Formats: sequence, structure tokens, C-alpha cells
Amino acid sequence: CGIVGYVGNKQALDVVLDGLRRLEYRGYDSSGVAVLDGAGGLAVERRAGQLGNLEARLDEVGRDSLRGTAGMGHTRWATHGAPTDRNAHPHVDTTGRVAVVHNGIIENFGVLRAELERSGVELASDTDTETTAHLIARAYDGVDDHGTAGDLAASVRAVCRRLEGAFTLVVTHADVPGRVIAARRSSPLVVGVGEGETFVASDVAAFIEHTRDAVELGQDQVVEIDDAGYRVTDFHGVDVETRPFHVDWDMDAAEKGGHEYFMLKEIEEQPEALANTLRGHFVDGRVVLDEQRLADQDLRDIDKVFVVACGSAYHSGLVAKYAIEHWCRLPVEVELASEFRYRDPVLDRDTLVVAVSQSGETADTLEAIRHAREQKARVLAVCNTNGAQIPRESDAVLYTHAGPEIGVASTKAFLAQVAANYLVGLALASARGTKYPDEVAREFAELEAMPQAVSTVLGTAPQVRELARDLATAKAVLFLGRHVGYPVALEGALKLKELAYMHAEGFAAGELKHGPIALIEEGLPVVVVMPSPKGRAVLHSKLLSNIREIQARGARTIVIAEEGDDTVRPFADHLIEIPAVPTLLQPLVSTIPLQVLAAEIARAKGYDVDKPRNLAKSVTVE
Ligand code: G6P
Repeated sequence: CGIVGYVGNKQALDVVLDGLRRLEYRGYDSSGVAVLDGAGGLAVERRAGQLGNLEARLDEVGRDSLRGTAGMGHTRWATHGAPTDRNAHPHVDTTGRVAVVHNGIIENFGVLRAELERSGVELASDTDTETTAHLIARAYDGVDDHGTAGDLAASVRAVCRRLEGAFTLVVTHADVPGRVIAARRSSPLVVGVGEGETFVASDVAAFIEHTRDAVELGQDQVVEIDDAGYRVTDFHGVDVETRPFHVDWDMDAAEKGGHEYFMLKEIEEQPEALANTLRGHFVDGRVVLDEQRLADQDLRDIDKVFVVACGSAYHSGLVAKYAIEHWCRLPVEVELASEFRYRDPVLDRDTLVVAVSQSGETADTLEAIRHAREQKARVLAVCNTNGAQIPRESDAVLYTHAGPEIGVASTKAFLAQVAANYLVGLALASARGTKYPDEVAREFAELEAMPQAVSTVLGTAPQVRELARDLATAKAVLFLGRHVGYPVALEGALKLKELAYMHAEGFAAGELKHGPIALIEEGLPVVVVMPSPKGRAVLHSKLLSNIREIQARGARTIVIAEEGDDTVRPFADHLIEIPAVPTLLQPLVSTIPLQVLAAEIARAKGYDVDKPRNLAKSVTVE
């Protein structure tokens, strides 16, 4: 989500709307603003849909009803609750004096919500955010006695100490004019320091038209802003040192976090996308889905799984097949959604169809689940877009929290899909009892270690960029892998086709001798995804022989291998090292260099990395 807060000498509404326009790329399913009139009034307007809907609403009520020099705004990418007017931010408390906008996920909101309901508070939305508005109002009024009555910043701090998860909150109170409070845990927050005006925002793009002097907030910090400046404390009110910086990006670069393309930014956001997708899904020894309209018994009765999807989402399904079959002892078929319903698949009420879709609107996938439901199969959606058609028509939903993806070629959404599919596997394993709770806990803990491993692999980007410049003139590139490395090879090839318009093919390395080896000629680049030598030793030695075979025939080998795997060195013309991780989880790290490779080859060739020719982000026709 995109958030912005302002206190200064201009009309807050104008500044905030400008900021929201700049942040719209961070989310665009609803938006809203709140303005303090300085005389005890707080006006809030919000609307589902794109920013234009909010602006139309503002014209309807008259922009004069939102005059004031302090305010805030939000552009939303739904996590909890469908993108509707009532779920749009800002959220207010019962008296309408406290308004809150939020980016992130509050994991313990169920507990907080229940506590508020027990105290007689009626909640007006389905969001995790609204609970914070009530809690802050109560802390300020001294109802929940934290010793913070009459002190808004202290009230925000007291509430933040109770929140679990990731969040940026921006808070205003009608009784506290000329002041905006913001808090940060994990989700980004920067302060912009101008002449007689101060800003807070999820990124500098929101305010660099006004000031280029900024301060980044650290983990678990709260900032109070007014027209004279800012004060930063920790969650206990202790002042903290901040590090001011000067922004020299232009507006275009600022939106892309300093990168030339959104896709490069999105590649870097993958540790966060993974962490957000896992967050809150392991509760009391069980993996939980976001929505489950199926009885536990229905999950226990499942005797067959289909994964249906298109493009990269399909590849995420191919990866998951290895894990789900292994963990759940269930047959898993992975099928291109466009083929699925035209071939009379065998489905009944004990079949689970997992529909994986970033957009949740892909026509092929949507029609596939409609067909599955007609045949009485159960449908579980893995989706990145809250409230999209596919999750709406499914019996259960697990959301990937990759945030909006702008680059047409999927990167962070793909990685989040792989993780989410694994969660589906663990949920099934728990339901079916094929894994004990402590085993599920161990698998989940291994997944939780992956964001760190992904950050480490991102460190190989400069090396891959150099290689990309070298490969830009190649006619074709082949990709080889075995086991989970095979779908990774397919994904690597797809990325290269999509972005660099090069002929690229992924193969199961074992199939090489049955045909593809005929393609090998002097200098042909072949990317090989090596499994861990410690994991499945037999896979490793087989792939090692495959590299030997192609190298002997003149191929130029680019090897992705586990760090410390010295056995591959003699056969690798280029070696890209990735951290050691459990075999089933390797795709979460081995995919990263392939994404960078494709993006950088495209860049070297001067192509538009975010908008490859002929492709669309969301394909709503069959
Ligand atoms: C398009 C995109 C791909 C994406 C596929 C499936 O072809 O270009 O990047 O993987 O659609 O999209 P979905 O939204 O269903 O995941």
C-alpha cells in the first residue's frame, strides 16, 4: 500500500492527493484521505477502485469540506477484507475522532478484535487496521489504561507494543490539530523535511516534489510531525538518533526505488514478499489458510490434487508437486489451465483443484475452476489480489502477499506462489495426518529461513549482470535441471523469452540424451541448475555427468550451484553460487539469478524490461 501524511502551510488535501498519485503503483484497489481542519474537525473520504473514484467523490462532497493543513492518505492493496468502500482506509474509531491508515499485516488482529468486541465496540469493516483506530482512541481517552490519556504519540506507542506482524501506521486525532503520528515495524516509512512543512510516506516519491531532505525510520520507531519538524522515538518513548539523507533521484527513479525498471525493484523485494506470504500462517502448530469455506473433513477426504495455472504461476505449481506428493502422499497433477477443461479431467468431490494466479483474473484459470466446480471438485485459490474473481469463486483461499507487481514478467509474485503452494501442501499434510505437528513446524521454520537466503542470493546480481552483457548476443540459451530444478529451468527459459525475445528452452536434464543434446553446438550457452550435493547425492552426480556431456560438445556452461560445491568447478565456465538450503526449497533461491539474467540481457539489448512486447500482465481472454 502507499501512504502519505502531511503537516505544513499548504492545503493538505492537495499535497496528499499528489502524493497518492505518485504512490498509486504500490496499490490501486481503493484509496482515501483524512484532513484535520485545525478546529477540532476531522473529515474522511474513501472509495473503492482507482484514485479517480476518490477524486470524483471529493468533487461530489466539495473539496472545501476538507480544508486544513494537516492530513493523510492511503492507496490500498487489499490484504484483509475485500476492496470495498467500507474496507478502504482511513479507518476511524467509533467517535470518528481518530483516523488511521496502515500498510502491512497485523497478525494478532483476531485477538484484538475479539477483545474490542467484548468491550462492546462495534467494528465497521473487515480489516485488521480498524482495530488499531479503536485501540488508539481508547488509549487516548484513558479507557484502556496505559497511562497515556491525552497524549496521542504515547497512545500510538502503547498500541504498537501490542501489535504483532508488519505495519506502518499513520494516525491523526481531531483533538490534536497540526500533528500527525506515524509508526513503523518492518514496512517502510520515510520522513520528508521541508521549509515549514513535514511529510511521512511509504517512499520518497510521495514528497520529492516538495523536499529532497529525508529521514528513514528504523524498525519499531514512532515519529511525530508538525509544521516545525519531527521527533523520533522508539516504541517506549525514548528519543532515537536518526540519519538524515538527501534524495537525488528524479521522480521516475524514485518510484522504482532508484532502479531503472520496476522489475529490478521487484526482484529485490522478494525477501519481503516471501516473509509477508508466510507471516501469520502457522498458528497453534497448524498451517492455516486465509479463507476456508471447506470443512476439515473435506480436506481430509481429498485423494487427488490438480494444480491449474498459466505462465509462471504454472511453473510454481510444477515446483510444488514435488513437495505436496512427498509430504501428503497424494497424487498431484499440474496442468496448464488452458488445457485442463478441454480434456475431460477426472474430477469429483474428493479432488482438490489448486488455482494459482497472481491477478486472480486470468480467464483460462477462471474457466478451469468453473469447470472443476461443475464436476463437484473443491477449489483452493492461491492469489495475490484480494477480492479478485478466482478467490471469490473458490472454496478456500491462500493469499500471497507479494504486493502489486508492475513488471509484466512475474518475479516476486512467482516466488510468493511457490511459498504459498508449499503452505497448501503443509496444510494438507496436517489435515491428513501424513505429518506430525512437530514435522510441520520444522518445515515451516525452514521456509521462514528463506527470506534471508534470498537476500544472500541477491548479492550475486552484479556478477550476473556482467554475464548478461556477455550473453546478449547469443542466438539461443538452454536451461537444464532435475527434480525441482527442472521447473526452475522452465521458468528461467520463460523469463528469457518474455524479456529478451531470445529462443530459450528448459529441459529435464535426463531428457537431454533423448533429443535436446542435438541442439548443442560450439559456444551455445547452457544454464544448469545443480541440486545440492548434500541433499540428493544421486541427482547431483547425474547432473554432473550431464554437464560433462554438454561441455564436451562445446557448450558454454553457466552453472548455478550450492556454495562450496567444488565438484562442479571444472565443468563450469561461469559459476553462480547460491546458499545451501533444503532440496525442496532450492527453487526459492535458484530462480533469483535466472530472473536477474533475463532482465539484464533485456536491458543490455535496450528492451523495455517492464513492458515486453506483445505481453499483458493479466490476460482476461481465453
Ligand atoms: C501472463 C503474465 C505472466 C503470468 C501469467 C499468469 O501471461 O505475463 O507473468 O505468469 O499471465 O498470470 P496470473 O495472474 O494468473 O498469475
